[in-house]
Amino acid sequence: MAEVEINAVSKAFGKAQAVSGLSLTVGDGEFVALLGPTGAGKTTALRLIAGLERPDCGSIRIDGRDVTGDAPADRDVAFVFQQYSLYPHLTVFENMAFALRAPTRRVPEADIRAKVQEVARLLHIESKLHNKATQLSGGQMQRVAIGRALVRSPSIYLMDEPLSSLDAKLRGELRLELKRIQVDLGATILYVTHDQTEAMTMASRIGVIEAGRLMQIGSPREIYENPVNAHVAARLGQPTINLLPAALFAGVPAGVETIGARTEHLTIGRGGGDVSATVKRVEHLGDQSHLHLDLGGRPVVTLADPEAGLGAGDEVSLRLNKPLFFDAKGWRVAA
Ligand SMILES: Nc1ncnc2c1ncn2[C@@H]1O[C@H](COP(=O)(O)OP(=O)(O)OP(=O)(O)O)[C@@H](O)[C@H]1O
Ligand SMILES: [Mg+2]
Repeated sequence: MAEVEINAVSKAFGKAQAVSGLSLTVGDGEFVALLGPTGAGKTTALRLIAGLERPDCGSIRIDGRDVTGDAPADRDVAFVFQQYSLYPHLTVFENMAFALRAPTRRVPEADIRAKVQEVARLLHIESKLHNKATQLSGGQMQRVAIGRALVRSPSIYLMDEPLSSLDAKLRGELRLELKRIQVDLGATILYVTHDQTEAMTMASRIGVIEAGRLMQIGSPREIYENPVNAHVAARLGQPTINLLPAALFAGVPAGVETIGARTEHLTIGRGGGDVSATVKRVEHLGDQSHLHLDLGGRPVVTLADPEAGLGAGDEVSLRLNKPLFFDAKGWRVAA
């Protein structure tokens, strides 16, 4: 495994600026997640590192070596694609063994068998090794696609939403498995996702990417507790942070236009708060309930206390407790 260093890399497709001045280092053995909405430039960033796209400017180093001009095959990266494509006529075993069979690698057959078996066991697809790729469910295919990368020991694994086509239960299981495998192997992983739970639970650092730009990078906790702007604040947290006009509240510091209030920043009472709001509905999600409020025509969503017995039409008071402050452009203002 190796350190990967991306330095001021940009890439445009015609008028679309997919990636803008991206600088990022993934340390040896580190798990970094790139989190961002659709079209943010996540896949393009991975393709640039893999050498599948040429940057317009900037450089990429792997293990201290400048690989900016190198062909993909000379970069020693393993890519798990968002649109995984298996060789349909080959068995699961042969799909996974494929990269190890490259003539330049000369891996002994016994080693190939052992490695494929080991990875198939980790991914719970051992019983499918002799199936054709076409005889698998989508979730099984996705695991084979991950397995094809894991049989190799590249400088870095680039993973593009590898769990996106799995059902919620399997996604939760594989999230834990993948993290365990990464720790066991000491693997360096750059992992792209728009799923905040995946980023929060697997990554040692999260890079939040928006419209081709890296907005902030830090530990999950730093990103959650100390977002640089309202975009980043809205990326993490469920329910999503409430961004409310400062004018609705008294005693807000100068320069603050927007107040960011997560559940933990809001105390709901039956009176005596900063402002009053009306309950629109209580949404029961099983493990938690969301309380939807109307605050002077603005929607506010927070976790509901099931003991409070609130229902539609109830009047409540709302008190702010150390919320986040943002200026007119959405940048953080110190409290
Ligand atoms: N080959 C291409 N030709 C033209 N435009 C492209 C190409 N690839 C990407 N883009 C554009 O670049 C931007 C970033 O695309 P990218 O695929 O990197 O986003 P993403 O963050 O991976 O999104 P998603 O979450 O939907 O996969 C988009 O506006 C997209 O339309
Ligand atoms: Mg993508």
